[in-house]
Amino acid sequence: MIKNGAEVQVICTPSALDFVTPLTLSTLSKNAIHSHFFVEETGQWTNHVELGKWADAFIIAPATANSLTKMAHGYCDNLLLATYLSADCPVFFAPAMDLDMYLHPTTVKNIHTLKSYGNIELPAGDGELASGLVGKGRMCEPEAILTRLNKLFVDSRSISGKRILVNAGPTYEKLDPVRFIGNYSSGKMGKAIANALAQRGATVDLVLGPVSSEGVLPAVNLIKIESAEDMYEACNAIFDQCDAAILSAAVADYKPNTQANQKIKKKTNDFTLHLVKTKDVLKSLGLRKNKQILVGFALETQNEYENALTKLEKKNLDFIVLNSMNDKGAGFGKDTNKVTIIEKNGKKHTFETKPKTEVARDIINLLSTYL
Ligand code: CTP
Repeated sequence: MIKNGAEVQVICTPSALDFVTPLTLSTLSKNAIHSHFFVEETGQWTNHVELGKWADAFIIAPATANSLTKMAHGYCDNLLLATYLSADCPVFFAPAMDLDMYLHPTTVKNIHTLKSYGNIELPAGDGELASGLVGKGRMCEPEAILTRLNKLFVDSRSISGKRILVNAGPTYEKLDPVRFIGNYSSGKMGKAIANALAQRGATVDLVLGPVSSEGVLPAVNLIKIESAEDMYEACNAIFDQCDAAILSAAVADYKPNTQANQKIKKKTNDFTLHLVKTKDVLKSLGLRKNKQILVGFALETQNEYENALTKLEKKNLDFIVLNSMNDKGAGFGKDTNKVTIIEKNGKKHTFETKPKTEVARDIINLLSTYL
């Protein structure tokens, strides 16, 4: 990192100092090492809050089973952990431990928990381990860590500091006090987009329909709504202050024309619902947009490309993300998606089936070229 022109500060846990001397690390990093809350030689207290705020990225490598456990549960009994809790930059962690420790359900769960808080895992590699066992648990190679870090800075350049509106999830259209019309949308795609944008330094407003907000990063400004009308109001209230909007929500197209105040009783054999059109949120933003980059989604079951193209034009979008219900691994509730992105200049990008977190990255990479 020093060779790449970075400014580096090193924090060592007490155990790390059993492996490596402070002199080596201070010589290489060109800075004094931080290892204790209180420095006896100078009589000074190490300000972990300042350290946490100073960094543009925080890399915990190697991250031992012990440190991972403590990080996942908010322990704060050494300088590394206190700084981790104070950091407001992207945090990377590179697990390194022996095979069975790495595979232990506790470790697996802790890694999962840390990722759910928005920390970025630098996955361990396979190979010979300190115990002599061969398997997974070797710390991610330093070159790979550097590549990942460089990617973060390149990816963030045009997104950082921008305000971006994202919507996600279904909407519920109320019929009576106990019933609604809804759809199967889980909101996972939109949540992944909102999180990825926040990790790249954007100010993100996520307007989320009636699904769980679990997994949404604390840095995302969350606005919970229920109906298509609520979605319309919330998105239109924010849009003018935004640089871009990505509308992934499965907004209901129709709602009951009246809502009963009391539960509808089953009196007749047939029951007909009278539905009326809801407002098209995306179209309304397309009509109002000036500087904003506007991105929509299209969910299709037939004539996918033609239908998506029509939506792109009609709703005045910069690009549209098409997912077809005919593709395996795509659609509502899944953790993966398969998309084709069509730009307003007709350029088409097709992608393989991949986790929604990676699809989010593809969408944001294209958005960044517009911003
Ligand atoms: N959309 C919206 N408001 C609506 C309906 C759709 O903002 N009332 C947005 C969706 O969030 C998505 C895009 O419009 O970004 C396309 O949604 P989709 O359901 O694929 O298409 P519709 O426009 O609803 O047309 P149709 O249902 O006839 O395919």
